[in-house]
Amino acid sequence: MSVIKVAILGFGTVGEGFYRTIQSHAEELKAVLGKKVEVAAILIKNKQKERDISSDVLVTTEFEDILNLPQLDVVVEAIVDKDPTYIYLRKAIERGSHIITANKEMFAHYGQELLELAKTHHVSVGYEATVAGGIPVIQTLRQLLNVNRVQQVQGILNGTSNFILTEMREKKLSFTEALRAAQENGYAEADPTNDVEGFDAFYKAMILSRLAFSEEPNWDAVERTGITSITSELIETAGRLGLRFKHIASIKKFGKQLKVSVEPVLVGNEHPLYHVEGVQNAVNISSDIVGQITLQGPGAGMFPTASAVIEDLVYVCQNRPDSEGFQSTSDTIASPEEGQHEENWLITGFKHATNDVIKMIDHIEDGTWIAKAKKEEMKELSRQNLGVVYFPIIGEYEGRHILTRLA
Ligand code: NDP
Ligand code: HSE
Repeated sequence: MSVIKVAILGFGTVGEGFYRTIQSHAEELKAVLGKKVEVAAILIKNKQKERDISSDVLVTTEFEDILNLPQLDVVVEAIVDKDPTYIYLRKAIERGSHIITANKEMFAHYGQELLELAKTHHVSVGYEATVAGGIPVIQTLRQLLNVNRVQQVQGILNGTSNFILTEMREKKLSFTEALRAAQENGYAEADPTNDVEGFDAFYKAMILSRLAFSEEPNWDAVERTGITSITSELIETAGRLGLRFKHIASIKKFGKQLKVSVEPVLVGNEHPLYHVEGVQNAVNISSDIVGQITLQGPGAGMFPTASAVIEDLVYVCQNRPDSEGFQSTSDTIASPEEGQHEENWLITGFKHATNDVIKMIDHIEDGTWIAKAKKEEMKELSRQNLGVVYFPIIGEYEGRHILTRLA
């Protein structure tokens, strides 16, 4: 029987999870692909680390050793940083190998180039694991929504941030303790700033934007905020108002303009993302024929991510014609001028009794208010008052009601 030879770049949470899944699911792979899958080589950085890898596998720190393998059908990339990773994957494609990547930072920067290069070399690119861990969101957008016109994609895209917010609320952990637990579970990036400052969700949003709308916004124009300004006290206050903090990436099209935001928001229990907890991610897609679809599942971790990579292995080995590039037709949402409609906001760090910028509708406690205002007005308030932090409340604000009941 002929064999599919695979090289894995990186043997951390993702690389090792994929390696172990190839062993545990060898029969299924053989049945679906009609060939045995063998790991021929693994690229690592530190030769001193102890690893549970079969002695038949070449373990190397030199990428050239991988390129020089006599047979190399698929290169699976699960390392960190965009360089030199991009160059490695270019070389793999030029050698005629399919590639699979879990590296969203690299793919957000160079995905388009890699897809085009792959097309000219008649190989496929799998990147399911770059967005939302084990959730098959890329395949869903790529295959199921060919005819639907996508209007909006919105979701919780960073497992670490959602896990931290949940642990802080449910177990009363500090931010630092919750982050440490996320790191111990293998959810966080090598540099967790990427998770907690929203960069990781931003890269994922750019990948989704390109897939769903065939374009990306100007990266510098995207408002990106992480979760580091959310304190245990704020989580407690939000809870008393019947609200939860969720870190949400949103990609919508208004007219010809693509609008993307990555930020913490407050949602009430009527919102579909309110109950998405822990390391779970969820992606809500709105499109014209089907309406709304919400996909939910584990957003990070060894085996959820291995699931995405192994499904990509089948996808690239079947080298489907649609892998040559997906072009969606997007529909648009009619909306008032961005920043010009009034929303509800939770404001903290505002010490004054009055102001002439916005209308406060509730006083929650010292320094903490609910306002009804336009986004531009909120920006003005924070420009005038250093230390003011504000979060949008999505949906109806029931707080006044709840506070009265609690009194
Ligand atoms: P880890 O830090 O656990 O592992 C990274 C691995 O890459 C290590 O084996 C390391 O080698 C190796 N490595 C790093 N840089 C190089 C280099 N320049 N050359 C060769 N090897 C290198 O990371 P993860 O497995 O968590 O993540 C890998 C990728 O997958 C990242 O891009 C991440 O964003 C993405 N991802 C992670 C998910 C998760 O749940 N953790 C989920 C989805 C995607 P050594 O062991 O020698 O140090
Ligand atoms: N660090 C990422 C997260 C891994 O927490 O979502 C999955 O992409």
